[in-house]
Amino acid sequence: MAQVTATPTAPNAQHPEQTVLQRFRRDQPWWLLPLTVVTVLGGFGLYVLWTAFIESPPGSVNHVSEWGPYLSPFFSPLIWKSGPVSPAIFVLWSPLIFRASCYYYRKAYYRSFFLDPPACALGEMRHRAYHGESRFPMVLNNLHRFTLYAALVILGWLWYDAFLAFFSVDPANHGHVWLGLGTGIMLANVVLLTAYTFSCHSLRHLVGGGLDCYSTARLGMARNGAWRALTKINLRHPMWAWLSLFSVMLTDVYIRLLQHGLFVDPHIVF
Ligand code: FES
Repeated sequence: MAQVTATPTAPNAQHPEQTVLQRFRRDQPWWLLPLTVVTVLGGFGLYVLWTAFIESPPGSVNHVSEWGPYLSPFFSPLIWKSGPVSPAIFVLWSPLIFRASCYYYRKAYYRSFFLDPPACALGEMRHRAYHGESRFPMVLNNLHRFTLYAALVILGWLWYDAFLAFFSVDPANHGHVWLGLGTGIMLANVVLLTAYTFSCHSLRHLVGGGLDCYSTARLGMARNGAWRALTKINLRHPMWAWLSLFSVMLTDVYIRLLQHGLFVDPHIVF
């Protein structure tokens, strides 16, 4: 009797295109990712509350997270430094709504915080009528395209802050260039925030997504070039979302450490 033997296959023959990270995720229990997202996003939210309001009581020297030429992104632009409330309140609403209504973060926190659904391979746990973004509270997600404009303005301010981080506020060093570890952190932060903002799905659509034909549209070819460039970074939007979240927090932590005298900024002055 003829024997049929199975042809040995390579371990990943069925998923030859998978990266190491994708293979790692596939082998983990489904709840690990939601738990990680809840921990990171929840921790970030608590940290923002602490640095913006608890650590910054009116009249205290810590009212604003700033040190030397560095200003925390949570307080920029610094609209009202010595008022009765934390100046962060004038700034934070816009980036927080921008992130909360981000298409990627929505997927992450719908799954992780609300288990709705918990993962792509698991079914819906609740079956309700779905009305898209036409009813409260989902209709609030439409704010994303409007907070995008505010995010672009704030991004300009953060680039200005990163520029100022190259100049000491110390009169003894007036006119000299300051290169500190904090300068590098502030610069890296604004670069990552730029990548996050410019990889936004709404911005990509705004630039070229609504056109049927580029060649007949006004500035069509320029818009096509911009759309192609944005598409390249849009493919990594989740990565920019997480990296920029960490960098914003790291920048504030670093400035708070300097402010409390717990760390000395390594620097050189030219
Ligand atoms: S879709 Fe994520 S920032 Fe716009």
